Amino acid sequence: MHLSDTHFGVERDEVVTALLQLSEQQRPDVAVLSGDVTQRGRSDEFRLAKRFVDALTAGRKLVLPGNHDIPLYDLGRRLFAPYLNHRRAFGPDLEPEHEDDRLLILGIRTTRRYRHVDGTVSSAQVARSSERLRRSKAILKLVVTHQPVHVQSEVDQHNLLRGRDTALRGWSAAGVDLILGGHIHLPFVAPLRALHGLPREVWAVQAGTAVSRRTRPGAPNSVNLIRLDDGTGQCCVERWDYDAPTAAFVPGAATAVALDR
Ligand SMILES: [Fe+2]
Ligand SMILES: [Fe+2]
Repeated sequence: MHLSDTHFGVERDEVVTALLQLSEQQRPDVAVLSGDVTQRGRSDEFRLAKRFVDALTAGRKLVLPGNHDIPLYDLGRRLFAPYLNHRRAFGPDLEPEHEDDRLLILGIRTTRRYRHVDGTVSSAQVARSSERLRRSKAILKLVVTHQPVHVQSEVDQHNLLRGRDTALRGWSAAGVDLILGGHIHLPFVAPLRALHGLPREVWAVQAGTAVSRRTRPGAPNSVNLIRLDDGTGQCCVERWDYDAPTAAFVPGAATAVALDR
């Protein structure tokens, strides 16, 4: 289960409840929260977020920080302890990973204390994660960043992750299949090889805002369920949208994702 941009502090209670129910029904092996866990990085917001993550039904839970999880107004804390509240809630690791026989998931911290909104991936991060990708024998390999490596509209260009060109080439050559992201609150799934001239096919998988009031026009609260069929090796990304009349998440678009083998 890929969820993003929960923005606790401006969450919708009824959507939080519905998402916990979806996780209970679907019981994903792993839940990945790709940043903007809170609205302002405050400790009371992280307490709400932690309660939610603890209540999610999933074999493993990986939580990455986003730009909203760094304090905005408390400059001292922003410069000297930007991740204090995040770490108190979710542990010291800001780049959580998961690996089993089927799945490799590498979280990349793209937030920087000096840049409040913009995200960056460094060449050192690309080198380290590419090495992990190359070594892994997992069937499906994912990298997770908060800011997107690809956007579909002109208005979102400024939200693109800095360092993405080097990262896309490096990760593609190293065998990544999907790059999960959030930040723009606009879900989509897109193949990147032809668009970016990559050596192998890589898919961008963007999640909407899971439970917050900060939805964009035409994009209700949503999450992604990524399914891997062990028999056929087929992969599918299902978007599930919050449906207000039934107060539940319901299936939206499903995209068959052809893995480059
Ligand atoms: Fe966000
Ligand atoms: Fe963000």
